[in-house]
Amino acid sequence: MLKLCMTNDIPDREARAFDTTAYGTLFITQRDGQFFAYKNICPHLQVELEFLENEFLDQDKEFIQCSTHGALFQVETGECISGPCLGESLTVVPIQVHSDGGIYLA
Ligand code: FES
Repeated sequence: MLKLCMTNDIPDREARAFDTTAYGTLFITQRDGQFFAYKNICPHLQVELEFLENEFLDQDKEFIQCSTHGALFQVETGECISGPCLGESLTVVPIQVHSDGGIYLA
């Protein structure tokens, strides 16, 4: 099982990208103590989501945002709720948080 980082590496309403062989580039974000991971691919044009390093959230840090055309995605589900890929979803990456505080690829 591959350890990606520690939980305290990803503060609430922040995100971090990781390169993996199994899933390519993915990112993890935290919302209220829960961690969510998605492949770093926008369902609209199959491009990476962020323009600036580790900047995956909108200005209010409420939604995940694609920097290309501004699509917004729910943090908890990855579903697009605004933008050209409305109703589509980011691809979930299964992760596990272990008691050692590590976040692992499941
Ligand atoms: S490429 Fe992401 S919204 Fe168009």
